[in-house]
Amino acid sequence: MMKTLTITRPDDWHTHVRNGAILQAVLPHTATQFARAIIMPNLKPPVTTVTQALVYREEILQALPTGANFTPLMTLYLTAATTVEDIKAAAESDAIHAFKLYPAGATTNSDAGVANIATIYPLLAALEKHQLPLLLHGEVTDESCDIFDRERVFIDRHLTTITRDFPSLRVVLEHVTTSEAVQFVVAAGDNVAATITPQHLLFNRNAMLVGGIKPHYYCLPILKRESHRQALINAAISGSAKFFLGTDSAPHTRDLKENSCGCAGCYSAFGALELYTEAFEQADALDKLEGFASFYGADFYRLPRNTDTVTLEKSTWTIPSSYGDITPLKAGETLSWKLIR
Ligand code: NCD
Ligand code: ZN
Repeated sequence: MMKTLTITRPDDWHTHVRNGAILQAVLPHTATQFARAIIMPNLKPPVTTVTQALVYREEILQALPTGANFTPLMTLYLTAATTVEDIKAAAESDAIHAFKLYPAGATTNSDAGVANIATIYPLLAALEKHQLPLLLHGEVTDESCDIFDRERVFIDRHLTTITRDFPSLRVVLEHVTTSEAVQFVVAAGDNVAATITPQHLLFNRNAMLVGGIKPHYYCLPILKRESHRQALINAAISGSAKFFLGTDSAPHTRDLKENSCGCAGCYSAFGALELYTEAFEQADALDKLEGFASFYGADFYRLPRNTDTVTLEKSTWTIPSSYGDITPLKAGETLSWKLIR
């Protein structure tokens, strides 16, 4: 008999679905895999106000395939121009679930990000007061800082101070990639959590750099060495409610990835749950997948857990070499679990 795994329907607590043609191409994948998703606001221009987020939310709803049962959870992009009133308005809107902070220049479409965190202290105070989560791209952008150290240095230089000065601020350190990030989150209060991507659970930096440079494995924060991957696996399978699923699925057209200055982002929404299942199975911890994928994120965001289920079967399939203009993670390779659609 075919081996199967049934879990409560999962949610994705960090994804990029873009807009326009890319939205049309990727949203069916996310909506098949997940009941809800935290939608990143790094469009051009960024989504900074409730009004813009509601327009974007409507565009997403319009792009859903007929019959899809999916709820986009909107976020706003925190900039130096954000006001305390913007935060209050977001807190009062049922559609907005968090603010995203990108250090200026950290990654794709982050030019509008914050250059000096000290200048946004009144905004952090407002987020704390309204209990609206702050989602952090936790990397410094300091030119002199080695790219493999940027997450660790962000924690030392900024995150330690932020969590000390705002002890009840709800923080998600997004897409953690290092053992230092895991240690920080474990040691912090229950108001501090982290998302982990499939690529950081499945691959170390060799996947990106050995045998030729592989641009489809280039994302930010960048893949790290094996000992860090092990720390992420241990966090994900620990059963700690501080670590939950966030794909950071970040589609870019192939010409922008396969380029002398290729952009950052891995596209994983097409098979996100299968990728995570593979990682949990390799760690002999399939029994820990449901908490990570379906419970802890909803609990952190103070939303009800989903009540329906999804089933995966143990059967090998080959990932297509492309979805339109987008090359998926592990293109042309196989996965050993398949979501029954
Ligand atoms: C993201 C993107 O493409 O929007 N890229 C990435 O490498 N993760 C931006 C981000 O989340 O850093
Ligand atoms: Zn992201």
